[in-house]
Amino acid sequence: MSRVGIVALGRYLPSRKLTNADLESLVETSDDWIVSRTGIRERRIAAPGELTSDLAVAAARDALKGSPVKAEDIEAIFVATVTPDSAFPSVACLVQKAIGAPKAFAYDISAACSGFLYAMTTARQFIATGMVKNALVIAADRFTSIIDWQDRNTCVLFGDGAGAAILAPVAQGGILSDYLVSDGAGAPLMVVVPGGARTPDDKDMDAAKLPYVTMNGQELFKHAVPGMAEAVGIAAARAGLTVDDIACVVPHQANDRIIASVAKRAGIAKERFFINIDKYGNISAASVVVALGEAVEAGRIKKGDKIALTVFGAGLVTAASIVEWSY
Ligand code: ACO
Repeated sequence: MSRVGIVALGRYLPSRKLTNADLESLVETSDDWIVSRTGIRERRIAAPGELTSDLAVAAARDALKGSPVKAEDIEAIFVATVTPDSAFPSVACLVQKAIGAPKAFAYDISAACSGFLYAMTTARQFIATGMVKNALVIAADRFTSIIDWQDRNTCVLFGDGAGAAILAPVAQGGILSDYLVSDGAGAPLMVVVPGGARTPDDKDMDAAKLPYVTMNGQELFKHAVPGMAEAVGIAAARAGLTVDDIACVVPHQANDRIIASVAKRAGIAKERFFINIDKYGNISAASVVVALGEAVEAGRIKKGDKIALTVFGAGLVTAASIVEWSY
């Protein structure tokens, strides 16, 4: 397979901050509870009328600024999202028009918080087989549009944002391995209700209420830890490496305690994990790519480093990739 790497990264976070203190006036919670149980201090909230496609376009433009591949030469666009502006058209098609990428085919990928790695792995295959020369991979969610602001179990955890990566052939390094695994038996653990085609038939649902997230946080926690830890080990083995070779792990940012447990279980010091959950909360699929961009800018990842990306999300969907950083 030809080598495929990330050649540019971008991100967009809305400017409006929602702090833990702000949430104290919405639900019965406290800054102390949120920080000690999750590590989150604040999150970003999209402006009124700012939709997922706006977040995605802004992240794509940021990535294109430093990209050797120009918008007019992009051949495929994948957008990982669970909060599209509407069921169709896809966010990817809206991005294609907005950035001026007429050669690209474009579609969305639904894999909740794991969406970025599911989309990146898809893009890698298209490039490696020669079907396209490059791809723009975006993860974007206006996740707070599906939050019940009266439910303290969920509303303190999530924020909005987008990240983007441009993938192209590289001479050295690049994506060394991927591992994707899904477990539909865990589907009931995190569901958006009412919503989708079930709504008219499901008598238990209050169809007048806007769609909102329900989740079993404790059970998700129990699945997330072994899922992400084992995914790193399997992806490392597929790359012919051990976890000792990994310079930095960039995990999905759902909960600081989940990350600490993943580190312990994977046998990798927590100091080697990049964590920015305090600033953004869980921004769904965008978490891992936003964190990756910040890790590179902070000098935590350097050219030639072998890094692991590991994610977990509703579905259940889990994934990891090993990347040798190439710029
Ligand atoms: N403020 C104050 N108290 C709260 C809050 C809150 N925001 N939320 C829950 N509590 C209370 C509970 O009601 C409970 O009270 P009780 O003991 O009187 O019943 C107590 O705090 C403890 O609740 P737990 O659920 O046991 O708290 P836990 O330590 O498990 O933390 C949390 C909850 C943060 C949700 C954790 O389980 C978690 O992070 N789970 C993973 C969730 C996740 O990552 N979801 C996203 C999946 S990825 C995707 O696809 C989007």
